[in-house]
Amino acid sequence: MAMGSGSGGTPARELFGSKWGFVLAAVGSAVGLGNMWRFSYVAAEGGGAAFVLLYIIMVILLGIPLMLSELVVGRKTHLSPIGALRELGGRGWSYLGMLFVLVGFLILSYYSVIAGWTMRFAVESAMTGFPGDPGDHFSEIAAGPAAIGWHLFFMALTIGIVMIGVQKGIERAAMLLMPTLFLIVVGLAFWAATLDGSGAGYAYYLTPQLSELMNPDVIRSAASQAFFSLSLGMGAMLTFASYLAKDEDLNEQAVTISFADFAVAFTAGLVVFPVIFALGLQDSVGESTVGALFIALPGAFEAMGGAGRVVGVLFFVALAVGAITSAISLLEVVTSSIIDEFGLSRRRAAVSMGILIALLGLASAWSTDILGLVDQIAGELLLAVGALLMSIFVGWKMKDPGAEMLRGAGPRFAGAVPYVVLLVKWLLPPVIAVVVWFQFWATLAVVRGFFGGG
Ligand code: PHE
Repeated sequence: MAMGSGSGGTPARELFGSKWGFVLAAVGSAVGLGNMWRFSYVAAEGGGAAFVLLYIIMVILLGIPLMLSELVVGRKTHLSPIGALRELGGRGWSYLGMLFVLVGFLILSYYSVIAGWTMRFAVESAMTGFPGDPGDHFSEIAAGPAAIGWHLFFMALTIGIVMIGVQKGIERAAMLLMPTLFLIVVGLAFWAATLDGSGAGYAYYLTPQLSELMNPDVIRSAASQAFFSLSLGMGAMLTFASYLAKDEDLNEQAVTISFADFAVAFTAGLVVFPVIFALGLQDSVGESTVGALFIALPGAFEAMGGAGRVVGVLFFVALAVGAITSAISLLEVVTSSIIDEFGLSRRRAAVSMGILIALLGLASAWSTDILGLVDQIAGELLLAVGALLMSIFVGWKMKDPGAEMLRGAGPRFAGAVPYVVLLVKWLLPPVIAVVVWFQFWATLAVVRGFFGGG
């Protein structure tokens, strides 16, 4: 019933007020916990620099074409994922939109828990400094009642912004918060360079071990990290682009957004690795625990005395800022779909869905094992599945995606469009299918471990 047709869809669809408003909101979606919390531990697992190199390749080869694919579908239809895929692909493809909504639901449910830790660390480091044993402290606050409180608080904030709407809520929050985050992270990178012993950190982070480049596990995690960090595979970019006027150069924007996201992740690495090596904390990050960043860095900041405390506050504030602009986009995918499909008001859609997600998140707030499990299922496997189906959709089902990519394209990128279409058709589906295959087995192992190993 909410299927808008030729005359412009739902009558009063809100649009972004400016080009930069859109770009910053999309960058806000991309830049988040994924760039710092996830990037640093996945990079550490993947051997440091080798992972970083593979990650760059994945961003360019898979990330940018996929981002462009999502953007054109959103802008062409001006509909949220379910409606957009139905309009361009028929009923069957609308199920992919539903998968996106489900994934948004699942990811936000645990993302908010980690964001809650972050906010708690920001407040604690400002008020009391970091406590003596960061490992113990983390296990005290990461799960149970304390985590639940912060999780609910973070969800309330997110719901509030999404409720206000695209221009006044999402766009304004991003315009204010993203530049703040950039400044803080760059400032921290300069500070990290002044630490004694940071050289070993740079070496680990920047000199690749070539043997790791062919390791399928590292390749798989580099691809998945690219999807997660660029917010691809669950319709977030599609949804934001549906609020876009028709005449922007989406090629340029896909490149800008991807590059900005990479720049923040890379710069965050220039903070995290020197700090960790300067203080000899390699071991606490090398393990694949979701808490690595939250254990290693507070310890480091604390060891640096007064200055460390200021820097620690800045770091966690930046992280919380990134988290909130990403959480907004996750909730927006769900909210906009509910508005479009069921005709609910924005306020009711955002509040009701937000509350359901908050309730689901109680499980992840209760146990970090559950959090890790949901991250593997939704953040790794389902995002890859979503990315695969999206590339098949745009490569094989959508009529003339190239024409849509060219609409508004400046001379700089117009020439590249035919090649991008070829990539989406021939390279992305098989490569991402391999990623899905490996993710399937990795997920099975995690699920078995969860139910078997207790
Ligand atoms: N890209 C966000 C981050 O890096 C997370 C995210 C994933 C947001 C998928 C939206 C969709 O933190």
